[in-house]
Amino acid sequence: MILNFAHRGSLTEAPENTLPAFHKAINNGAKALELDVQLSKDNHLVVCHDYKFFRFNKGVEGQINDYTFEEIKQIDVGKTFGEEFKGVTLPALEEVLEICPADLLLNIEIKNIPVIYEGIEQILLNTLTEYHRLNNLIISSFDHAALKRVQEINSEIPLGMLFYYRILNPWNYAKTSGLNIRSIHPNHVYVDQTFVHECKRNGYSVYPFTVSDMERYEQLLEYGVDGVFSNNPKIFGE
Ligand code: G3P
Ligand code: MG
Repeated sequence: MILNFAHRGSLTEAPENTLPAFHKAINNGAKALELDVQLSKDNHLVVCHDYKFFRFNKGVEGQINDYTFEEIKQIDVGKTFGEEFKGVTLPALEEVLEICPADLLLNIEIKNIPVIYEGIEQILLNTLTEYHRLNNLIISSFDHAALKRVQEINSEIPLGMLFYYRILNPWNYAKTSGLNIRSIHPNHVYVDQTFVHECKRNGYSVYPFTVSDMERYEQLLEYGVDGVFSNNPKIFGE
């Protein structure tokens, strides 16, 4: 079954990784959702791709973890996208969990670069436990040490191994990592038929990112991917 992820919600229709973007993705028929998490100064999980505000609000200096969650809730990240989103703020992970139907596959990506968030894995698992959201879930990261810490806390969680750059035989790396890797999430640019074949032969699902072009999407389907991360509602809403 093909499962495509709405990447940071529906980021062409609303500010990425915000509640309006997640609502749009769900309304567009997304069956899977990807979001990124960072930590505030007071250790709240904040849903955001960047560790700085600059791309969303040029007037705010510093990093996400320079601000408490209460302060973050005063920062507008919607207006840059469009006047109608004025007043939209970065959500806490809890706010997103509240609007996510149980049958929606959730991929939470731990952002641990360039800022290393000490303890983010435990905070994340505590939150997911509290919200009964340990099912229908993949936790992924480019930081494979963060995946290891997730596994040490809860060995049942399906893990997704992200690769930005091409490495040799990632399926072998995944196997020898000792991690409970269910899926490989590669940058789509280097995914070809052999890549998909080898991942699958080794028991991994393959979800390349970020694929918004229909022609490339169809090619990847022919290679046998299990789905993609996409910004295109025609792809993630199909
Ligand atoms: O998890 C897939 C994709 O989101 C990884 O890259 O930079 O968009 O978080 P990035
Ligand atoms: Mg991401």
